[in-house]
Amino acid sequence: MEVKSVLITGTTSGLGRGLLQHYAEHAPKVISVNRRRVAELEGQYPSVRFECVDVRSAESVDSLVRDLAASGDLPDVFILNAGINRLDNDEAFDLPLYREVIDTNLYGVLNFIAPLTRLPVAGVERHIVAISSMVNYAGNPYGLGYYTSKKALTACFEVWADMYAETDLVFKQVMLGPVQTAIYTMGDRLPGWIVRIKSLSSGSLDGAVRAISRFARTRKKKLIYPLRALPAFGAMWLGQRLIPGFFQGRKTLEGRSRRRQQGANRAPMG
Ligand SMILES: NC(=O)c1ccc[n+]([C@@H]2O[C@H](COP(=O)([O-])OP(=O)(O)OC[C@H]3O[C@@H](n4cnc5c(N)ncnc54)[C@H](OP(=O)(O)O)[C@@H]3O)[C@@H](O)[C@H]2O)c1
Repeated sequence: MEVKSVLITGTTSGLGRGLLQHYAEHAPKVISVNRRRVAELEGQYPSVRFECVDVRSAESVDSLVRDLAASGDLPDVFILNAGINRLDNDEAFDLPLYREVIDTNLYGVLNFIAPLTRLPVAGVERHIVAISSMVNYAGNPYGLGYYTSKKALTACFEVWADMYAETDLVFKQVMLGPVQTAIYTMGDRLPGWIVRIKSLSSGSLDGAVRAISRFARTRKKKLIYPLRALPAFGAMWLGQRLIPGFFQGRKTLEGRSRRRQQGANRAPMG
């Protein structure tokens, strides 16, 4: 399939910005959806249509999709990329932060799906690409909103990929490993050994953009990128299951033991 029009969420930085640059050069119509206007960005891509919409708002996303459909401008590819990562589960579980991550990473995608699945069939394939993450394979306990939002996103897209398999709606997802962007550089707060694993197994932004744009043209359900990050996540998955305390957040990021009284023995169970 040749991509004629594409909508990308979260193009002010990182992967979204890379995808914006790629599609501005390769697709006739590009719609960029950001929660704020960035004059420099809009000036750089005069042919791109910029929409100022916060993906957390179901009403705003619904009205954007309906307006695009009504004017015949609904794109054939949606890359639902906007996402955030927060340390929401370190010293204590931070509910407002957790909710912000879920609202953005999970509902920020689902808000598009509700109106898209209600549209009449138009004889055109619509490819809906979610940017999920390899945290699905080994979650970071300190970023619980991130981990659980991507797990839920992946589960939803697996269901929809099968459910809509023979239809005009093509649900697909990218299991993205470390790519050097703002979310990635959150490494400054993570333990040193994780940062080292991430930098050894991380992919370049250009490589990720190329792989995602190739994938967007197919009917494949899943892209795992970069493949070389998989063994690291596999090793972490095994470690979390086999080694007591391994990357399970038993200590705070500052290295303090969690809720232990000095000198107290653990109470017997049962
Ligand atoms: N980088 C990695 O290693 C990695 C690995 C796995 C998965 N991913 C996923 O890849 C995607 C892109 O990440 P990135 O690394 O490129 O991060 P990034 O550089 O921080 O970019 C995130 C983008 O999302 C936008 N955004 C955040 N909240 C929004 C909202 N409520 N409405 C609209 N836009 C919003 C941001 O806009 P503002 O500038 O306004 O904040 C920004 O444009 C995310 O879904 C992330 O989970 C990244």
